[in-house]
Amino acid sequence: MKVVTGIDEVRSAVKAARAAGKLVGLVPTMGKLHEGHYSLIDAARRDCGWVAASIFVNPTQFGPGEDFETYPRSPEQDEAGCRRRGVDLLFVPSVETMYPRPGLTVVSSPTLSDRLCGRSRPGHFDGVCTVVAKLFNIFQPDRAYFGAKDFQQSVVVRRMAGDLDFPVEVVVCPTVREADGLAMSSRNAYLSPAQRAQASALSEALALAERMIRSSHPAAREVADAVRRHLASQAPDGIVDYVEVADPVGLTNVRSTDRPVLVALAVRFAGARLIDNRLVD
Ligand code: PAF
Repeated sequence: MKVVTGIDEVRSAVKAARAAGKLVGLVPTMGKLHEGHYSLIDAARRDCGWVAASIFVNPTQFGPGEDFETYPRSPEQDEAGCRRRGVDLLFVPSVETMYPRPGLTVVSSPTLSDRLCGRSRPGHFDGVCTVVAKLFNIFQPDRAYFGAKDFQQSVVVRRMAGDLDFPVEVVVCPTVREADGLAMSSRNAYLSPAQRAQASALSEALALAERMIRSSHPAAREVADAVRRHLASQAPDGIVDYVEVADPVGLTNVRSTDRPVLVALAVRFAGARLIDNRLVD
């Protein structure tokens, strides 16, 4: 595996891979890699002849007062993990490489970005779209891999790529979970033991929502209320940011659950904001 920090090095490595007739796969990450990220690399490895990963904690997707400075970082373990999982090229740019000048150009997909997480993280998806667009330009991948835990991110990125005619297939892979159901996330590292014990309530609440929907298609409001009640009783230290039952395509709230719906939630445990979702179709 080659580890590079410069955009030109990426471009020449991609050129060589293409000249060898290989399909180029990209797994963009912010590091502190866990099995969720590695499952994306494994998927890329299965599909593509040449696999790149990027590790870049992107400052433009963090709002004021968010955890950019403290975001968990583990560069040595991440590099070793990428090597083990068969990554061909690891791109670890600096902030100066990605943003050499104060950014005037922002890639934005406002309507989808303003919903769900966008309400409490204004500007977050502009930062995501901008950095992902830059990575798509740098790598020009055939396929790029994202996790379903960040469902809204995958919807926004896919739309952005389509609207801007990036010739890339956005592949969304299933959420990888701990044994008790907690969705793997780099931010789980922030949880105290007591918070960690309560955090399994997020996936339990989503499982409850799915059971309710499958058994009787109740009104969306009833489902959201039941999820909130479960969180209040099982995760008393968590502050619910949102629980929404939404249309999985447009991400707008729905009233009934007699069609495919996304049940999505975000809960804050002190410094850790955790998200999870379940698609019930
Ligand atoms: O999901 C992430 O880790 C980030 O939002 C991404 C896609 C790497 C962009 O910085």
